[in-house]
Amino acid sequence: MKGKSTQIIASGYSGKSTSLERYHSINPPIYHASTVLFDDYAELKAVGQGQYDGFTYGTDGSPTQRAFEQAITELEGGYWTKAFPSGLLAITSVLQAFLQSGDHLLVCNSVYGPVRRFAKNLLEKFGVTTSYFPANAGADIANYIRPETRLILLESPGSNTFEIQDVPAIVKLAREHGILTAIDNTWATPLFFSPFRHGVDISIHSVTKYISGHSDVLLGSATVSEACYATFHKLCRSLEIFASQDACYLALRGLKTLTIRLKQHEASALALATWLEAQPAVDAVLHPALLSHPEHAIWQRDFDGSAGIFSFVLKPQYAEEALSRFVDSLELFAIGYSWGGFKSLVTAGKFAQSESSRYHDRWMVRLNVGLEDVTDLQEDVRRALAKL
Ligand SMILES: Cc1ncc(COP(=O)(O)O)c(C=O)c1O
Repeated sequence: MKGKSTQIIASGYSGKSTSLERYHSINPPIYHASTVLFDDYAELKAVGQGQYDGFTYGTDGSPTQRAFEQAITELEGGYWTKAFPSGLLAITSVLQAFLQSGDHLLVCNSVYGPVRRFAKNLLEKFGVTTSYFPANAGADIANYIRPETRLILLESPGSNTFEIQDVPAIVKLAREHGILTAIDNTWATPLFFSPFRHGVDISIHSVTKYISGHSDVLLGSATVSEACYATFHKLCRSLEIFASQDACYLALRGLKTLTIRLKQHEASALALATWLEAQPAVDAVLHPALLSHPEHAIWQRDFDGSAGIFSFVLKPQYAEEALSRFVDSLELFAIGYSWGGFKSLVTAGKFAQSESSRYHDRWMVRLNVGLEDVTDLQEDVRRALAKL
């Protein structure tokens, strides 16, 4: 008779493949594991010889993570996807994979703020210089390209100021100069913009936003073309990148309702943006699907829809004190970062980071339009505007 502790360790589940039950849940199972078991010595030996095609350790990911990555690869139309613990880590890993000492990185000036911090604090340390180009750039990006430019990072539209880049024009120039292009495709999701169809080499998502959709997951993804696979795979392998199994599971579950959620976000945001344009306190509404948006024609040409987040600029006579009264008067829009979830959110400030931005030094409000009834959201904003 074995001791109680031995019985406990051996009880219930052996980890042998024969012990797996025939149980096909509609969603993939979640595997919590650092150790992954092998059936016999022959398998262990195959691992050592690099001839084992199964999972060898928790950092290899799991079937749940692979299922998520496969889904994103298919939707994006790319070659290979890696999941990351956050969107920012997906972006910074792409930069680490494709840049080396002496290289120059070109980034749109509307980029997600922490990317600037990474460029300043880390890329610079490793001999990579970064410069920024106007977020509404197209072929004029030629003025910013240097002989040592290796990568162009796009974010279209920018997630605070919503400028649109002419991606086909930028890609054409980049290819002529042998420069790679990567895009943060979070706003559009794979449903509304297809980076690879437009010739972009790398597509990145903060899955945290629309794809997971419920503001309770942090996850990122980067999808690469076949030509970029070897370099990117090497980086991921070297860092043993993996993502939380629970996050991958929740993201896959969120993905199933992305189409219908995004349709609702799109309709509500567009209705609210259109109404806001007519409000006397509002100087400009920054939403690419509005006719008034300076790059509306490019958005219409390249995108298949619009998301639920946009900003508006207050008339110059309203100072920060009025802005804070507006924000604090909202009842349905909670004050908080991030976007793409079911609940409406608001942030406010001077978002335009670059002096060359159209809206530099202007007070702005950013609305993440959730899944509440749009008439209630409009009434909430109307009441808060009255407090300005
Ligand atoms: C456009 C954009 N990209 C990337 C990120 C980073 O994503 P995560 O929060 O998953 O790190 C954000 C986060 O707000 C974002 O807005």
